[in-house]
Amino acid sequence: MKMGLSLAQGLVLLVTAATMLAASQAADTIVVGGSENWRYGFNYTDWALKHGPIYVNDKLVFKYDPPSGTTPPHNVYLLPNLGSFIKCDFKGATLLANETQGIGSGFEYALVNPWRPLYFASSGGNGADCKDGMMKFFVVPLPRWQ
Ligand SMILES: *[C@@H]1O[C@H](CO)[C@@H](O)[C@H](O)[C@H]1NC(C)=O
Ligand SMILES: *[C@@H]1O[C@H](CO)[C@@H](O)[C@H](O)[C@H]1NC(C)=O
Repeated sequence: MKMGLSLAQGLVLLVTAATMLAASQAADTIVVGGSENWRYGFNYTDWALKHGPIYVNDKLVFKYDPPSGTTPPHNVYLLPNLGSFIKCDFKGATLLANETQGIGSGFEYALVNPWRPLYFASSGGNGADCKDGMMKFFVVPLPRWQ
């Protein structure tokens, strides 16, 4: 009587498990804020926490209204580090999407590097979007098993 798995059986199981894992990790397209989109006054830190892990190759989509008479225009910046993120300091920040690029299907940003934190914020209203409007969050893209 043979106990346990043969090496071949073990390998088949391993490959099957790896394939299932890869399949369950197909890249996602994630609308930032969900149905709230990218707007003043919604807590994006809370949204990011509740959304859960975000992986390399996922795409973040920022959708926001074009400039209007009633709200300052929004945008999407990448802040250089945690300090600038906490202070909403846009010195040295990189503009990813200007005030009109969130219209329609929105601005899409693909996550390329694992483990590197990415600090997103809107500088609209002279920084009020970020400071008072909670339009900031960060993600640390997790690697995929492939
Ligand atoms: C936003 O959500 C985070 C995480 O849930 C929470 O710690 C923080 O206090 C909230 N900020 C505001 C201004 O409500
Ligand atoms: C925003 O960027 C788009 C695409 O690069 C450009 O066509 C448009 O003129 C820019 N709008 C503003 C207000 O800078």
